[in-house]
Amino acid sequence: MSEGLPFGLSHVDPELAERLRTGLDDVEVALRAAVASDYPFVDETASHLVNAGGKRFRPLLALVAAQYGDPAAAGVVPAAVVVELTHLATLYHDDVMDEARLRRGAPSANARWDNTVAILTGDFLFARAADIAADLGTEIVRLQARTFERLCTGQIRETVGPAAGEDPVEHHLDVLAGKTGSLIALAGRMGAMTSGAPAHVADAVAAYGEKFGVAFQLSDDLLDIASESAESGKTPGTDLREGIRTLPVLLALRSSDPSAARLRELLSGPLTDDDRHAEALGLLRTSPAMAEAREVLVSWAESARAELAGLPPGNGTEALSMMCDVVVDRSA
Ligand code: IPE
Ligand code: IPE
Ligand code: MG
Ligand code: MG
Repeated sequence: MSEGLPFGLSHVDPELAERLRTGLDDVEVALRAAVASDYPFVDETASHLVNAGGKRFRPLLALVAAQYGDPAAAGVVPAAVVVELTHLATLYHDDVMDEARLRRGAPSANARWDNTVAILTGDFLFARAADIAADLGTEIVRLQARTFERLCTGQIRETVGPAAGEDPVEHHLDVLAGKTGSLIALAGRMGAMTSGAPAHVADAVAAYGEKFGVAFQLSDDLLDIASESAESGKTPGTDLREGIRTLPVLLALRSSDPSAARLRELLSGPLTDDDRHAEALGLLRTSPAMAEAREVLVSWAESARAELAGLPPGNGTEALSMMCDVVVDRSA
């Protein structure tokens, strides 16, 4: 059976799909154990987002990357858990930063409890990730630490914005590589490493993951504007309301198209007011900047695919290529 695999991977080779599904089941069991606490309140807060759902895309990528070595090697599932725990920790923190109320179709931790609980639970999850990483060796611990460093730097750079004279679009793409590409690269690298795949394979999967991660974030940001409902499990339009300038906004701001004059006027001020927010969202949805942003997404997905040339051909590589189509299609 291959249903239930995220990211369109139900259509990969049935044997691979079955292995991935079994792997994800093992990840799920280990993940639930990893967020458990003897202290009941922490147990509740730490398991909140795991229980709420999520695509488990990063563990899936780790499992696909493990196909280049021995997918049944003992470190593969713990590595996938380390990556998902790190991701979870960043979601708890990100929703505080972005004042988001909804995550994975459930109230965010900051909405259900408060910012303090959300921040400390994120830290707790990060500690659990470090604990599991320690069993995988110092190299893995260091890789995870350096990834988290890049991720935090990306989040801070997003908050601070471009420096004087820095191109806002280039700054933005650097931010995406840091806050999202780094962890998706780590998922691929750690899956390959713990399976015993050769170093050049781990490097190629990581290079793929980094670029794929940028594409993934670009498509997520398009969905934030384009989705009518909370199909993403998040509140659409949150970036705009929070003043986070994602690529379509940056492109609309820089366009000289006269039809976008009102949009630029709205975007240059705060969008916390419901009417202004709705008007800007409506104009942005129909603006040429959306198609332009989609072209940038396609180019990142294609450059991710180009990294696959360094990998042995086979079902795993086909799965990674298929994901490049899905990341583009999901935002259409
Ligand atoms: C959300 O990641 C954060 C981004 C990088 C856009 P996911 O879209 O993988 O979130 P979950 O894990 O499925 O909730
Ligand atoms: C996602 O940030 C990246 C990290 C959590 C590091 P965003 O703020 O862009 O993602 P969503 O839309 O809240 O998932
Ligand atoms: Mg954010
Ligand atoms: Mg956010």
